[in-house]
Amino acid sequence: MTNKMWGGRFRSGPDAIMEEINASIGFDQRLFAQDIAGSKAHAAMLAAQGIISKTDAAEIRKGLDAIAREIEDGKFTFSRDLEDIHLNVESRLKELIGPAAGRLHTARSRNDQVALDFRLYVRDTIDHLDLQLKDLQLALAEKAEAHAATIMPGFTHLQVAQPVTFGHHCLAYVEMLARDRSRLADARRRMNENPLGAAALAGTSFPIDRHATARALGFDRPTRNSLDTVADRDFVLETLSACAICATHLSRLAEEIVIWSTSQFRFVKLSDKFTTGSSIMPQKRNPDAAELVRAKPGRIIGALTALLTVMKGLPLTYSKDMQEDKEPAFDAFDNMSLAIAATTGMMRDLAPNAEEMRKAAAAGFSTATDLADWLVRTLKMPFREAHHVTGSLVALAETEGCDLPELPLKLMQSVEPRITRDVYKVLTVENSVASRTSYGGTAPKNVRKEARRWLKLLKT
Ligand code: ARG
Repeated sequence: MTNKMWGGRFRSGPDAIMEEINASIGFDQRLFAQDIAGSKAHAAMLAAQGIISKTDAAEIRKGLDAIAREIEDGKFTFSRDLEDIHLNVESRLKELIGPAAGRLHTARSRNDQVALDFRLYVRDTIDHLDLQLKDLQLALAEKAEAHAATIMPGFTHLQVAQPVTFGHHCLAYVEMLARDRSRLADARRRMNENPLGAAALAGTSFPIDRHATARALGFDRPTRNSLDTVADRDFVLETLSACAICATHLSRLAEEIVIWSTSQFRFVKLSDKFTTGSSIMPQKRNPDAAELVRAKPGRIIGALTALLTVMKGLPLTYSKDMQEDKEPAFDAFDNMSLAIAATTGMMRDLAPNAEEMRKAAAAGFSTATDLADWLVRTLKMPFREAHHVTGSLVALAETEGCDLPELPLKLMQSVEPRITRDVYKVLTVENSVASRTSYGGTAPKNVRKEARRWLKLLKT
């Protein structure tokens, strides 16, 4: 049997393998709501323009609503010989309302239809991800406020560098996520143009009103070039690229959670809700969720790379290659959403161990910079020289087997005779963080203020 939707010039049906490679219904059925919304807007516009009758349009609308209900209720039979969501819906419409169904595809092609459906889907996805990211920011800002003064080591090269606060560290991710959200918002703004009416590639001879369908579907305006419209997938690329960056951010936090929850660090504890046990080692509590979030960029960056590779060198306009845009993107969006949800859950769940973090922050001569700064401030030493003197003091403490705050004044003075007892005030980790009051610095006072600013912003 030839295809009943387009088989006019065909004498036989497709080879089984042809059907298998060609069909997209297995994955594009998830576009059904967008497909139906687009068809309803199209039919209404055709009627308003006098291209089809008002009665036909009303029949079409009723039929489409019935199909939406059938699909939602799981009562719709998708068939592979109808290739994709567009033909499945249209064919069912014909069964339901008869010949009027055949008028729906006037002044339209599956090329602008799929461009529309996928755009609407990606737009919905962005809105959903944005809400999720906002909630994650909220979870982080709440932790930041609660731990504005909880001291932890700040690292460079994963070596203890300077004391910071856990709240400050949480707010670092709030900033990253804000940029992720703004990248998604950018992509959304750029993609929010109506592709419907580009038809196959050249536009149409019917007197359609693309501004009307744009309004009906929440677009800012119609796209301006029909060739570009059916050939463009940058709206998916941009969204995937924003997701890839966001997933990369989440993977860094996930990796930190993995490190922090080891018995070597013991900075945080995840509850039973976000850990798993080992089938052989009864003592184990594994941070599997964090590890999986750490791994998710694999498939999300993979999806971006896959689609870039499909689009690269593809001549204008539509080619069936472009049907390969959907599966990796769907997978990436699903996993992006899952990774955000898991990270939010972990951030709400994890309990910081202030004592262990403070201990680690005080070790490793983490206040050496504070000592150097004291030399500069009090003795008016040039910073380079202060750096050198501090280096000698650290070496001395190392041979004495003590930390800087425990190094006796006499020994300090053997390196620099002008040092006074006053220096010990700057050597505690508490003093160190409290002194970092520069704009964007880690002083608890700053962190508290920033956390509250974010909380206010996120709660409105
Ligand atoms: N299933 C197709 C896709 O996802 C729909 C567009 C088909 N267009 C065509 N000319 N065959 O790209």
